[in-house]
Amino acid sequence: MQELTVELGSRSYPIRIGDGLIGDIGAQVAPLLKRPRTMIVTDEHVAPHYLAAVGASLGAEGISFSSFVLAAGEGTKSWDGLARLTDWLIGEGIERSDHVIALGGGVIGDLVGFACSIVKRGCAFVQVPTTLLAQVDSSVGGKTAINVAAGKNLIGAFHQPALVVIDPATLDTLPRRELGAGYAEIVKYGLIDDAGFFGWCEANGAALLAGDRAARHHAIAHSVTAKARIVAADERETQDVRALLNLGHSFGHALEAETGYSDRLLHGEAVAAGMVLAHQFSAANGLCPATDADRVRAHLAAVGLPHSLASAGVNCGGGELAAHMAHDKKVRGGKLPLILTRGIGQSFVTDAYGLDTVAAFLDGARG
Ligand code: NAD
Ligand code: GLY
Repeated sequence: MQELTVELGSRSYPIRIGDGLIGDIGAQVAPLLKRPRTMIVTDEHVAPHYLAAVGASLGAEGISFSSFVLAAGEGTKSWDGLARLTDWLIGEGIERSDHVIALGGGVIGDLVGFACSIVKRGCAFVQVPTTLLAQVDSSVGGKTAINVAAGKNLIGAFHQPALVVIDPATLDTLPRRELGAGYAEIVKYGLIDDAGFFGWCEANGAALLAGDRAARHHAIAHSVTAKARIVAADERETQDVRALLNLGHSFGHALEAETGYSDRLLHGEAVAAGMVLAHQFSAANGLCPATDADRVRAHLAAVGLPHSLASAGVNCGGGELAAHMAHDKKVRGGKLPLILTRGIGQSFVTDAYGLDTVAAFLDGARG
């Protein structure tokens, strides 16, 4: 087992990574509990694979538990899902010092985290992420949210977990398409500030996606180490440090909005295409070598991820995509900060480019 820490003073917490840890959750959470009782929240796809193992490990430690199985999918991250979950937690007699276990992907992690930020004015939770996206990104850093009619993740809170337990072996049951979507977020860490890691991805990405355990473990540990460092430096995204984690996301959100936040384009797939567009936009504006943008596109294409508007299934005008970007929650003073780059591993935040410039670029990128 490998352990690292998200350094946040009195709210610091460990991240533990190891194949088989799902069967050791009881021993992992026992030291955190004031009473031998917990609540597990999961979804209908994850429960058949892992709920029994987590329950057995809690039982082995003498910890009683109840479980709540929600529908799988983004629709669960909603006012309705939040109301049902908070009602259930209160009905179960949750106490502030209890630790709720979020067992699942980013949907379950975000929903449980938000519920725990508000139930009884805040109780604790443990992230047990079971998708690659959640293992390398969403389970760490304390961003929690639900979606509302006006947009994704618009209602939420920063609420850090007490512990993150990552069992990469749970990825064995994850559909290949979901694995690819999570892989895009791994590549992102190389592109942000770690050109050497991008090179590692070029050499090892295909093996990782084919199930190579050593490659999978290395990539997860490297990614969460980077994320922990960034979160410790800028927990609430106020200093243009954590914002770098949004590389590819502004372009990606426009693609997700255009495809209706649907299965047509998963979040990580949109981020993949968005990262290519961010590099191509940077190259088109003389910021970054075109050869670097080509390298990013070639790698994401090689592992079967969307790497252009066409491969993302988007064929609308640049103006329509830019209009989606104007609704981004990161808009400040009418301007959208973009994460651009001077080359692989050299990303930065800028609001120097208006959405009209972005729209013209996207029109050109349609060809
Ligand atoms: P998800 O939670 O919907 O999981 C994807 C699918 O895989 C679901 O059908 C789920 O049931 C299934 N699944 C999960 N683990 C499985 C396993 N081990 N075996 C078989 N099936 C499994 O999606 P996701 O990609 O994990 O997360 C997406 C969400 O994360 C979005 O809502 C996004 O906004 C959020 N997110 C949050 C942050 C953050 O910092 N909080 C960062 C990135 C994304
Ligand atoms: N996934 C972006 C962040 O955690 O800030």
